[in-house]
Amino acid sequence: MFAPLPDPIMPGMTSSAASRPTQDSPADRSLLIARAFVARRQSHSPYSRFAVGAAVRTEDGQIFQGSNIENASYGLTMCAERVAIFRAVAAGQRRILALAISAVPAAWPCGACRQVLAEFADPSCPVIVAEGDSIVGSSTLGDLLPHAFEAQFLVGDGSEESPSRP
Ligand code: THU
Repeated sequence: MFAPLPDPIMPGMTSSAASRPTQDSPADRSLLIARAFVARRQSHSPYSRFAVGAAVRTEDGQIFQGSNIENASYGLTMCAERVAIFRAVAAGQRRILALAISAVPAAWPCGACRQVLAEFADPSCPVIVAEGDSIVGSSTLGDLLPHAFEAQFLVGDGSEESPSRP
C-alpha cells in the first residue's frame, strides 16, 4: 500500500481520509459489494452449492475479501464473512467499519458471523447484502445482533476462584 499523501485543503488529514469522511458513501458501498461479488467466485461450496462472497472495510480503508469454504466433514465449513474478518485480523486489523455480502439469493449473515463481527465492529457498523452485485438490503450490526456477548461480561481470570465461575 502507498503511504497516504498529506491533504492540501484539510491540514492533518490525508487526501484519501478527507475525501472519504465516513467511508460509507454510496460509492463506498458499491465498491465493497463489488469486492464481495468478486470474492464469491472463490467459494468452495461443492456440498451446499450455495456460494457466498464477503468483504470488510477496515478503519484504514483497506478491503479484505472472503468466500465460504466447505469441507467433506460438513461441520468444519467456514462462512464467507468470517473468512473475510479473520483475514483482516490476521493482517493486523482490529476495527471493521463495514461488511458486504454477496449471494444468490441474497442472505443475511448467520448468528455466528454476527457475533464474530461484534468483536471488531461497533453496533453502528453497516451490513450490506446483495443479490450478486445488486444491493437488496442494509442494516447495522446492532440491529442484527442486539445484546452481543462482549468482553465486559468476562470477569476474573477463568480460574475456579474467579467470580465468573459458579
Ligand atoms: N454461509 C455463509 O458463507 N455465510 C452465512 O452467513 C451463512 C451461510 C455458507 C456456509 C455454507 O457453505 C453455505 O453457506 C450453506 O450454509
